[in-house]
Amino acid sequence: MKVMVIGGGGREHAVIRKLKENPAITEIYALPGNGGIAADAVCVPIGAKDIASITSFAEANGIDYAVVTPDDPLVLGCVDALEQIGVPCFGPRAEAAIIEGSKVFAKELMQKYGIPTARCACFDDLAEALQYLETAPLPTVIKADGLALGKGVVIADTREEAIAAATDMMRNGRFGKSGERVVIEEFLEGPEVSVLAFTDGKTIKPMVSSMDHKRAGDGDTGLNTGGMGTVAPNPYYTEAIAKRCMEEIFLPTVAAMNAEGRPFKGCLYFGLMLTRDGPKVIEYNCRFGDPETQVVLPLLESDLFTIMRAVTDGRLDEVEVRFRDGAACCVILASAGYPGAYDKGFPLEIPAELRSQVYVAGAALRNGQLVTSGGRVVGCTAVADTLPRAIDAAYALADRVHFANAFCRRDIGQRALRALSED
Ligand code: AMP
Ligand code: GLY
Repeated sequence: MKVMVIGGGGREHAVIRKLKENPAITEIYALPGNGGIAADAVCVPIGAKDIASITSFAEANGIDYAVVTPDDPLVLGCVDALEQIGVPCFGPRAEAAIIEGSKVFAKELMQKYGIPTARCACFDDLAEALQYLETAPLPTVIKADGLALGKGVVIADTREEAIAAATDMMRNGRFGKSGERVVIEEFLEGPEVSVLAFTDGKTIKPMVSSMDHKRAGDGDTGLNTGGMGTVAPNPYYTEAIAKRCMEEIFLPTVAAMNAEGRPFKGCLYFGLMLTRDGPKVIEYNCRFGDPETQVVLPLLESDLFTIMRAVTDGRLDEVEVRFRDGAACCVILASAGYPGAYDKGFPLEIPAELRSQVYVAGAALRNGQLVTSGGRVVGCTAVADTLPRAIDAAYALADRVHFANAFCRRDIGQRALRALSED
């Protein structure tokens, strides 16, 4: 079978490695992939948002199955376009991807169906938003409605910051169309948990939980990034909490999307905060998280391709989604300056015997040599029987991967270890 994977980051590398375990797959294409993914798939220089070229490529090359991983093509209707030419896909159609594509949609869905989330108000008029902010409790959270590369959320401690953020988004076009509408919501406190779940719109099967580390600096300081590292499982996510999330959040979300005539099929990502009043949804994503996927899939014992096909065919109830015991840790090596401006083009050295443990996110091949090409460059993932061992092994791995301006957080997993020791 010929499978194509849309996207070109560490997440896609993890998906491709896992797919390759299924012997029925004879060829894997990555559109566009990257220099590191090229060791595991045929990379085709077609951008993930170029839906017309993606469908032409699928037709011309007899693609049997497509996995659409990034948010942009999903929201733009890549799955719809591929289905129209008869290519079965893993991923939601645009009508369902809106759960990530519009925060206003997601908040209204949760309010309508009683799914626990932060209290909020939605605005498309700046004057009204500013009036609301005059009395909103602080800190307050301001979110651009649409996709904003993970940067559309501002936590404002003062009224001045809140006003500046709303003005920036709504009048100054900080995030283009994505910021024309905003959600202003209550600030929640508690440990965060990421839960990715397979769903075919009828059945939902959560994957092992994980913990992202979003800030650029140690001790959760510095700017928000796409994620500087992850561990799985997340020790805060106990069985009792998992049960509660299933009843209060996961099943109601699947049912709500069906009731809206927007059945969700694919990987639904729940960004949760475990507050004193119970688990609440911080955000939905319509896709695998990155770098969450880089710790979750290495722990998956069941066959990924079998699960994906079952999701597509609406038979998820028939397949097993089983994870191994133990833990995984992923440490991201990024280019100094990320998530702001950074230099690129530096040689990336990964010892040959370690290549199978490293997911490449931002590197290109230049005359056969890997060179850095992005902010997040590689994810160094280790699986072990215990979390401390997984953390040590991931850092041992990261210490053997080199490029000139590399930096990483040194405390990935420490908060999880503290949670374990508090038990
Ligand atoms: P998002 O892009 O929606 O994942 O938001 C980025 C980060 O902002 C989240 O991972 C949280 O740490 C934080 N955040 C978002 N919404 C809230 C909220 N209502 N209260 C507190 N923190 C939040
Ligand atoms: N790591 C967070 C995300 O994928 O959105």
